[in-house]
Amino acid sequence: MSDDVIALASDHAGIALKTALADELKRLGHAVLDLGTDTSASVDYPDYGFRMAAALADGRATRGVLVCGTGIGISIAANRYAWVRAALCHDVTSARLCREHNDANVIAFGERLIGIEVAREALHVFLTTPFAGDRHARRVDKLGAPPQAPSVS
Ligand code: RB5
Repeated sequence: MSDDVIALASDHAGIALKTALADELKRLGHAVLDLGTDTSASVDYPDYGFRMAAALADGRATRGVLVCGTGIGISIAANRYAWVRAALCHDVTSARLCREHNDANVIAFGERLIGIEVAREALHVFLTTPFAGDRHARRVDKLGAPPQAPSVS
């Protein structure tokens, strides 16, 4: 595995934006892992969110980009796994804050909702903004170890 591989995954409703963002990542010199889908045939977005979680877990990728029609379903799917912090972003400010405050390792977009220029810029910011740490680190640690529901007060 290279040091920093960026995985991309989408359902059928996110292919055009996934392809454009993969091209952008390659243009910027990043190693890219495309987890599909590859055709316009209808697929189920959870399967692709789960693929992203698997790629991060087994070390094939260090960060990721998810796309579906809204970005909602595929980010929910990936976030079922404690090691995934997928942030659905519609603007550049969210892309910055999800890195600074949440140490997001995946950015998600809705192809039906965001323009390509905003998505490209948000991706740049996501990739270049460091985690702010400090008080945010304690909160991010808690995300990785949620209590069982009955003990939540
Ligand atoms: C597919 O039609 C659509 O439901 C999906 O891409 C996504 O928007 C779900 O959250």
